[in-house]
Amino acid sequence: MSKQILVVSGSLRKASYTTALCRAVCGLQMDGAEFVLRNYARTLPIYDGDLDSNTPPTQVAEMRREIAESHALLIGTPVYNYNIPGGLKNFIDWASRPYANHSFIGRRMGVFGCSPGESGGKQSVEYLRNIIPLFGATLIGPELLFPKINTLVSADGAVDASVMGPLSALARELAA
Ligand SMILES: Cc1cc2nc3c(=O)[nH]c(=O)nc-3n(C[C@H](O)[C@H](O)[C@H](O)COP(=O)(O)O)c2cc1C
Repeated sequence: MSKQILVVSGSLRKASYTTALCRAVCGLQMDGAEFVLRNYARTLPIYDGDLDSNTPPTQVAEMRREIAESHALLIGTPVYNYNIPGGLKNFIDWASRPYANHSFIGRRMGVFGCSPGESGGKQSVEYLRNIIPLFGATLIGPELLFPKINTLVSADGAVDASVMGPLSALARELAA
């Protein structure tokens, strides 16, 4: 059975650059590994400790099971007001509970950021790279930032080779 690597985009936009990069990763052919896009930033209810019981909402239970069974996780993110978008934060909040017994523990996790501006999503990527080790997960790969991404993704979603090179390298590390 091939290793499953879950790919999560922080953006909900149809024409999202972040999701275009996530889709490009999912299109990579790698022996023994399969990259699958997950829309956790959209599908989960807003975190509510009262719902976080032994029988959490179905989408939450399913997401936690998929993460626990995955080989690795890749998160792509833009920057919204100097941090990750709310939907992505909400996913992380659900996935990081119950405290000390959650599905991020022992996972291999990689991160990339992109932005039309010069930062390449740096604040979001820094934030995620700082918290991932605190979850007991293993941070894989270098800091990966793609500035001026609007010039590197075509209208039909094709991603420039200057982005695909480092992105594929991270995907290979995650699949290892
Ligand atoms: C609510 C909001 C806040 C944003 N804040 C920032 C910001 O702080 N820094 C920045 O460089 N871009 C910011 N942007 C611009 C996004 O980086 C840009 O829209 C990007 O293309 C969104 O990613 P996507 O293409 O994957 O949807 C913001 C966009 C939105 C909608």
